[in-house]
Amino acid sequence: MNTEQLKKIAAEKATEEVRDGTVVGLGTGSTVYYALLKLGKMVRDGFSIIGIPTSDGTEKIAIEQGIPLSILAMHPTIELTIDGADEVDAHLNLIKGGGAALVREKIIANASKRILIVVDESKVSRVLGTSFALPVEIVRFGWEATQREVNKICGKSDLRGGIENPLVTDNGNYILDCHFDGIPEPEKIELQLNNIPGVVENGIFVNRADKVIIGTPTGIKYME
Ligand code: 5RP
Repeated sequence: MNTEQLKKIAAEKATEEVRDGTVVGLGTGSTVYYALLKLGKMVRDGFSIIGIPTSDGTEKIAIEQGIPLSILAMHPTIELTIDGADEVDAHLNLIKGGGAALVREKIIANASKRILIVVDESKVSRVLGTSFALPVEIVRFGWEATQREVNKICGKSDLRGGIENPLVTDNGNYILDCHFDGIPEPEKIELQLNNIPGVVENGIFVNRADKVIIGTPTGIKYME
């Protein structure tokens, strides 16, 4: 099986836990994409859900798939969220934000009763921050000063997209990709980064995932 097939089996497995008539948080990324396709088919076959998307990109795909959508103001409690991750450790801590949707993803995660994370096996890591640079969303005003403060914690970071053509998130902000040499204490680093003026949110998710569904060449594996 190639990586796309591993993503697909994990994402489709997660949709089996979606209950009829519930509000579902719709994550962002190339793995969740397969869950959106499956949920779209289920809806077209008569299944009833209301989706709350975590990004403009996911909103667009969900609309194309015919998934009814709403907003947190109307549905403040989400029954189940299906989302992806860039790195997952054995304690179910995550790095997210490779798709630049980390702020909305964390807001949706916070409003969710249950969170399923869907990944292929390459995302599983012994220590967070060893295989993926940590995304940190920062406001554009004074971003260089914010980066200097962020670098005091991580050592080195890159403005995503580069200075000539920086990526702008759905929220109108920039992303710094922060190169840690491992993040053995993710809870501490999550708080330290969020304490810097100019930082909106970072991609460390601690104690949020209830189950990680992993696509492997020998089938589905779980961490919970
Ligand atoms: C977006 C995310 C994604 O869930 C994460 O980047 C994983 O994406 P993919 O499934 O494409 O590898 O956090 O902000």
